[in-house]
Amino acid sequence: MQLLINGGISPRGSIDISAAKNSVLPILACCTMCKGTVVLHNIAPFGDILNMLSLLKDLGAKAEWDNGIATIDCSGINKWVVNASYANRIRASICLLGPLSTYGETIEIALPGGCNIGARPVDIHIAGMQKLGFDVEQGENLVCIPKSPKSNTIKLSMPSVGATQNLMMAACGIKGTTTILNAACEPEVQDLADFINLMGGNITGAGTPNIVIDGGVQLHGGQYTPIGDRIVAGTYLLTSALGLGGDVTTVGVNPMYCQATLKILQDMGCKIGVGKDWVRVQSDGRLQGIGHIKTRPFPGLATDMQAQLVVVLSLAKGKSIVYENMFENRFGHVSQLNKMGADITIKDNSLIINGVGKLAPQQLQATDLRCGAAMVVAGLAVDGLSTVDNVHFIDRGYFGIENDLKKLGLNVIRSE
Ligand code: EPZ
Repeated sequence: MQLLINGGISPRGSIDISAAKNSVLPILACCTMCKGTVVLHNIAPFGDILNMLSLLKDLGAKAEWDNGIATIDCSGINKWVVNASYANRIRASICLLGPLSTYGETIEIALPGGCNIGARPVDIHIAGMQKLGFDVEQGENLVCIPKSPKSNTIKLSMPSVGATQNLMMAACGIKGTTTILNAACEPEVQDLADFINLMGGNITGAGTPNIVIDGGVQLHGGQYTPIGDRIVAGTYLLTSALGLGGDVTTVGVNPMYCQATLKILQDMGCKIGVGKDWVRVQSDGRLQGIGHIKTRPFPGLATDMQAQLVVVLSLAKGKSIVYENMFENRFGHVSQLNKMGADITIKDNSLIINGVGKLAPQQLQATDLRCGAAMVVAGLAVDGLSTVDNVHFIDRGYFGIENDLKKLGLNVIRSE
């Protein structure tokens, strides 16, 4: 399957953004701790989300998606082995460790999959579970034994998003107060805590490095609308910064969640408008490159925006330097952009970008989810026909990207 992109068109229009993949995935895992049916709204059938629903069904739950709504009932869960055929399709399968551990059973879970952007170990998840009194052995699978579960204070060696989410959920199942120090502050962590509190839990401090969980309360079911996807929104907004001019609005994402990206676009010369849940990016031609930008934990620049931003910077005037501090193998887009005529040099974990006025159409490949999104953005930037292969990577985190881009007047067709 390919995307055929006729680029060179100035984007104009507005797109409604669905729930954030990286919120919905841990929330779906958390449903295994909820007694009763959970109904989630504004859900797009991203590939990763459909995979997580299949994984829950494999454990014995009812888990369906229909017309924007996911309905989950985990009362029928009767299996404590998360097998590799499901687990290694997505990174978020590891986030079942915490919730399933609250059943008091021995859990066996295959190591997670996810985009090939680095080693992505799970040592921080394991260390945290051990602090909570679980024996965790890592062989081919992870085996988690409830030796003597107890609330505790856990200091993460780095602010891992997934580990913060996993340990928050595990701690909800343990009576007493657990504190997570050096926790991730991403909006998707805050959103999971909001979901848990709505379902009867008691978490404070989510969104700060110090999260306190008052555990031992049985969570119940209910209705919830997760936050909008700030990475999908950011990807669409920066199509207005490709030197073609543009006027793009996204609706459904709090601008505070993509502040770092918006600041960069503003510094490059875009006009930014914001409201409670909308963002508008306008530009009228070629932009100015900026000095140094670094990916960082929230509220810093999201690593998931790096590849897409590099496309914008490769077309801007002057020199820019991008440091990728979160993952060690997230430059799959660079050689392909250089094939299009970009001037990007890799130096350790940084990219030295000398902006060029134009890129040429090319046959491109998605090597992971966000590299794929960046290749689509690159195709939109150039006159003529570009193609992007391995569209399944893109479909993991964007639903019908070609249909969304059509709402901006852009010409992208999916060919089987
Ligand atoms: C989440 O991955 C997101 N995925 C990623 O989005 C995102 O890039 C990442 O957070 C950082 O924001 C989901 O939420 C499903 P981490 P996660 O644990 O939780 C290292 C996308 O494109 N680390 O914060 O796996 C790790 O190797 C995806 O939507 C350990 O060393 O990220 C990485 O270098 C890609 N040991 C850094 O920490 C651990 O036990 C950040 O990882 C865990 C992580």
